[in-house]
Amino acid sequence: MYAFLFFHVDDMLLLVTVVRGSSMSAVDHPGPGDLPLPPGLNGHPIVENVFPVYRDHFGFYDSLADYGDVVRDRIGRTPFIALLHPDPIEEVLVCQPEWFRRWGFAESGLDFAPEGLFTVTGAQWRRQGQTMYSAFTVEKLQEFADTIWSYAADEVDGWEDGDVIDLNRIFEALTFRILTKTLLDIDVATSADSLPLMTVVETINELAGPQRIVTRHIPEWVPTPNRRRFSKSTRAYRRLVDQLIEERKQATEQPDDLLSILQTSTGPDGSDLSDVEVRDNFLNFMTAGYDTTALALAYTCKLLSNHPAVADRIADEMTDLGSEDARRPPGVDCLDETQRVLKESLRLYPPAFKIYRAATRETTIAGYHIPRDAVITMPQFRLHRDARWFTDPDVFRPDRWTEEFEKSLPKFSYFPFGGGPLHCVGMRFATIEIALVIAKVAATVRLEPVNDPEPDPSVGVSLQPAEPIRVRIHRR
Ligand code: HEM
Repeated sequence: MYAFLFFHVDDMLLLVTVVRGSSMSAVDHPGPGDLPLPPGLNGHPIVENVFPVYRDHFGFYDSLADYGDVVRDRIGRTPFIALLHPDPIEEVLVCQPEWFRRWGFAESGLDFAPEGLFTVTGAQWRRQGQTMYSAFTVEKLQEFADTIWSYAADEVDGWEDGDVIDLNRIFEALTFRILTKTLLDIDVATSADSLPLMTVVETINELAGPQRIVTRHIPEWVPTPNRRRFSKSTRAYRRLVDQLIEERKQATEQPDDLLSILQTSTGPDGSDLSDVEVRDNFLNFMTAGYDTTALALAYTCKLLSNHPAVADRIADEMTDLGSEDARRPPGVDCLDETQRVLKESLRLYPPAFKIYRAATRETTIAGYHIPRDAVITMPQFRLHRDARWFTDPDVFRPDRWTEEFEKSLPKFSYFPFGGGPLHCVGMRFATIEIALVIAKVAATVRLEPVNDPEPDPSVGVSLQPAEPIRVRIHRR
């Protein structure tokens, strides 16, 4: 005897066929296994998926969108599910985050920060996360703003009329200098201590880049040249930070950096972070906070070089704000033009362009069956350019960011810093840094584009421009 049940899940009408009288029937509790898999690509897992993903990542996602907003594909043996609508993304990141773990770090086979936020889970993650979030207080961020402003001035004031500069290279150096100073009180411009920090971040980027799809199939015991470089640089990094931690314990006066804060912070349960937790989290901060911010700065400047009238408005705003003391940063909340430009730039070119999770159990998303270990991808680069929420999605239009527009946006149509409990700890720090550097640049110089009119991003660990972005400097 069969019964047919119809019910709506999101936009989908589901038909469930049930055998009456069975002891655990789907009538009572339709489990994930009773639901259909999301629609999607059934082709050869290598030919149909791997090659297109690498040849044209963005085009591949366009082709997935033909199947709907929750779409299945497969790379090798791993089932992937792409979420192309804000609602299922909210389900994963906010509503049932404990059923989805962060994916990618454990799989990379890199033993780089096992006790840091990127890797730990459960109670340990909650304790660390709360300690980190409370470390970035308003007062602390204001002190960091002073460092950001003075280093931005060092850099930008040195640009000469007619210079052609490579924005990525310049901003990587600047954001690295800002991070090492604010986190560990090390100035890379003057200290040889910075070398292990630089090398370890470089080697992590090398190993975590797109080639990891190949290298992770090489057994972990094989000492490839990259892995040897990585182990050596990680050891040097650990020695340096262990030594700093010990020195701070002996010192009577502590510098105003994040290390001092974390060494003296107490978690919500009253416990301190262990030295290893502090050390591993710094490595997370260095890797998460340096090239993301540098890329955001490079893309924003590129957009300003293409839209000089917008840059002029930022410069005018800086003049209107006036500042009696040019060494003091302006209040970031007063930089309305800059904030709109920043939002629009992170919309078009989100440096962290895709969020990954893996299902820790068999579950459901938007009424579809999600097998255990399926990898969920949430591509900001696609959501941010979806015409359902952004008119003329490919057009740079900072003025769209009115209060009313922001209120009208579905929550996860725009999420450059992620969302839910695992969202970016450094978000406030990053937005202050980007806003101040952009304001300083626009107030001091005009930028003339030198190469391609539009940046042409390619996918790596982050959204890297395929070619260096270069501009010519004209001092105002
Ligand atoms: C434009 C700059 C930045 C962007 C676009 C960005 C983006 C993101 C995103 C999307 C996530 C969530 C990843 C996920 O859900 O799997 C994240 C996490 C994180 N970010 Fe950022 N980030 C930026 C700057 C920074 C900075 C400056 C720092 C540190 C000072 C930082 C530290 C972190 C950390 C530690 C996490 C992990 C949080 C956790 O597991 O609880 N980020 N970031």
